[in-house]
Amino acid sequence: MLKTKDIIDEKNKLLRAVSKEVKFPLTDKDKQTINDIIEYLTNSQIPELAEKYDLRPGMGMAAIQLGIPKRYFVVVHEYEEGKFQNYVLINPKIISNSEEKIYVEDGEGCLSINRETIGITPRYARVTMEAYDMDGNKIKVRGREELAVAFQHELDHLNGILFIDKIDKKNPFKDKDKMRAI
Ligand code: NI
Repeated sequence: MLKTKDIIDEKNKLLRAVSKEVKFPLTDKDKQTINDIIEYLTNSQIPELAEKYDLRPGMGMAAIQLGIPKRYFVVVHEYEEGKFQNYVLINPKIISNSEEKIYVEDGEGCLSINRETIGITPRYARVTMEAYDMDGNKIKVRGREELAVAFQHELDHLNGILFIDKIDKKNPFKDKDKMRAI
């Protein structure tokens, strides 16, 4: 079972690595890692279990956050109270996006950033992703609102980019009126 301490922090330079494409079939280790991440993210969003296992709540995690430089991530989306949908995206890319941009009003969070941050991280309101599933089948996934933010946030991890990099240093709330807060 994954623990919060297994997740590497922004101070670790590995988080800045550009992850490598995954080859199929997946190794047993990668399958295990994906299942471990699903378990962590799901439990972390269930308050009693988060407390019991001392998990920091999060809806997404990329392999690199466990120090594995491979292009895949998992998002566990609570689409209704207590109901979760898992997304496992391997070798993902954005194939289309909305013109409209949004930002998370309270600021994005990241399991690798363990400090307060302020400012706006601009994101597309809607994205369509193309990726592969665990069996190597090509899939197309659409995300809007917080799910779209999660996909873009996790995709950035595969390129060594953190959400704080996208906050304007001089003016953290730059272009606020050009985007919609969610
Ligand atoms: Ni993150």
